[in-house]
Amino acid sequence: MSTADKFKKVIAHAKEYGFVFQSSEIYDGLSAVYDYGQNGSELKNNIKRYWLDSMVKLHENIVGIDSAIFMHPTVWKASGHVGAFNDPLIDNKDSKKRYRADVLIEDFVEKINQKINKDIAKAKKRFGDAFNEEEFRSTNGRVIERQKKIDEILNRFKTAMENNDLAEVKQIIIDNGITCPVSGSKNWTDVRQFNLMFDTKLGSVSEDADIIYLRPETAQGIFVNYLNVQKTGRMKLPFGIAQIGKAFRNEIVARQFIFRMREFEQMEMQFFIRPGEEDKWFDYWKDLRMKWHKVLGLGEEKYRFHDHENLAHYAKAATDIEFEFPFGFKELEGIHSRTDFDLSQHQEFSGKKLQYFDPELNESYVPYVIETSIGVDRMFLSVLATAFEEEQIKKENGKTETRTVLRIPPALAPVKAAILPLMKKDGLPEKAREVLNELKYDFNCQYEEKDSIGKRYRRQDAIGTPFCITVDHQTLEDNTVTLRYRDTMEQERVAISKLNSLIDEKVNFKNLFKKIN
Ligand code: GAP
Repeated sequence: MSTADKFKKVIAHAKEYGFVFQSSEIYDGLSAVYDYGQNGSELKNNIKRYWLDSMVKLHENIVGIDSAIFMHPTVWKASGHVGAFNDPLIDNKDSKKRYRADVLIEDFVEKINQKINKDIAKAKKRFGDAFNEEEFRSTNGRVIERQKKIDEILNRFKTAMENNDLAEVKQIIIDNGITCPVSGSKNWTDVRQFNLMFDTKLGSVSEDADIIYLRPETAQGIFVNYLNVQKTGRMKLPFGIAQIGKAFRNEIVARQFIFRMREFEQMEMQFFIRPGEEDKWFDYWKDLRMKWHKVLGLGEEKYRFHDHENLAHYAKAATDIEFEFPFGFKELEGIHSRTDFDLSQHQEFSGKKLQYFDPELNESYVPYVIETSIGVDRMFLSVLATAFEEEQIKKENGKTETRTVLRIPPALAPVKAAILPLMKKDGLPEKAREVLNELKYDFNCQYEEKDSIGKRYRRQDAIGTPFCITVDHQTLEDNTVTLRYRDTMEQERVAISKLNSLIDEKVNFKNLFKKIN
C-alpha cells in the first residue's frame, strides 16, 4: 500500500471510529477546522497530560498557567506579529491554486535531497561495510553537484527573505522551473505577503469597537504574565512557565488533514534564563524534548532535528523536531532561542519594567528565553498515523482476515481496558460490571456485551484499547478473567485482584517519565 493510500485510510478510520470529524460537517464542513470525537478527545487529553506532567511534575522550577485567548492588541504590535507574521504567497494562474512560496521552494529542495539519499543508498548497497558516507558525499561528482544546487537555492532564498525581496523569491521559483503540482504550469503571479492573524472586534457597538486578534501563539500569554508568575510564585532563574491552549492562524494552504489547521492547540513552555546561558539551555531542551518523544516507542528512526535556515523574527537559533508523517518528514515541534526579544519589546511598549534581580550577580536584567513549542494536533497525527496498521491474521479455520489495529502507546490510548462478559446471561454481565467498578476509578474503561467476543475484540483493536478483559463462567468460580493483549493478541488467565497493577504498569506515565529523567 502506498503511503498516500495509507494516509487516506488513516483519515477515514479517524472518522469511522470517533477520533476526528470535519467541523460543521452537516453544513459541508469548514476548511482546515476539525472536531475531536469521543475517542479523539480522550487521546488528545492524554497527550496534553503527558506533556504538562512532564513539564511541571518533573521540574520543580516549571509551573503551568492558563491565559486568555484575547489579549490587548498592543501585545501583537510589541511581539512583531502585526508587522512580520506573514507568509509569502503565490498563485498559479492556470490552476487558481494558492501556495506558500517558501513551501514550494522547500519541497523542490527536498526532492533534490531525496535524489542524494537514493545515490547514497545505492552506494551503500554496493560497497557494504566498507562504505563511508562522509567520503562519498565529498567525492561523488553527482552528489557534490546536487548539494551545491541545494546550498545555492537556500542561500538565495535566505537573502531574499532577509531583504523582504519578494520579486527575488518569485525569480527563484522561475529559475528553478518549479511547477504547480496541480496544473504542472509555471504561470505564476507575483509573490506577496499575507498576515496570518485573524482579527475581530471587541465591544458591543461596532463603530467604537477595537480590533483585537485571536492569538496566533500561546507564548505571548506567558510573556505578559512573566512578572506576575515570577513575583507571586517567588521563582528564581532559571524557571519555566508552561501553557496549553488554542491558537489561530489564517493559513494560506491548509492541507494534510490536522497537520496544518486554522484553529489548533499548542503546548508551549518558555524557560527564562540568565543572558549568556542560552546555548547551554538550548542544547538541554533539544535533548530532553527528543527523549520525551522517543520513549513513547513510535520508532526512534521517525524523528530527526532540522536546524532553521530562516529564523523567525524573534529567534537567535531554532531547530525543529521533525517526524516522519505519511507525507514525509515534517515539523512536529520547534525549539527556539528567543533571546530577550519578547520581554524587551513588552517592556518598551507597556512602559513596565520586566526585569529580574539576580542576587548572585547583584544586578537586574531582562531574562533570555528558550522556548519549546509543539502542536497538540500534530502530535495526535503522529501517534494516530504511526499506530494505524492493517495486518493479515490466520483464523482457526485456516482462512486469513485483515485486522485493523491502532498500536497507540498504551499510556496515550483513549480506552485502557474493555470489560466483556462472554455471554449476556448466567450472571456474567453482573460479574463483569463488578470488574468494571473496580477499575473505573483508575482507568478509562468500556463495558461491551453486544456481538460475538471476536467482533468486540476487533472493535477495541480499532480504537487502540491495550487490554480486553473477558468474564466467563470460570470467573464466577475462581475470580479469574482472560486478559487479552492488543498487540500480540495473546491471552492469559489472571486474577481480578491483579488487574489493576497489571494495567497500571503499562499505562502509567510514571514508567515513561522514569526513562526520561
Ligand atoms: N511560539 C512559537 C511558535 O508558535 P511555530 O513553529 O510557529 O512556533 C509551533 O509553531 C508548533 O505549533 C509547530 O511545531 C506545530 O506543531 C504547531 N503548529 C503551528 N502551526 C500549526 C497549524 N497551522 N496547525 C497545526 N499545528 C500548528
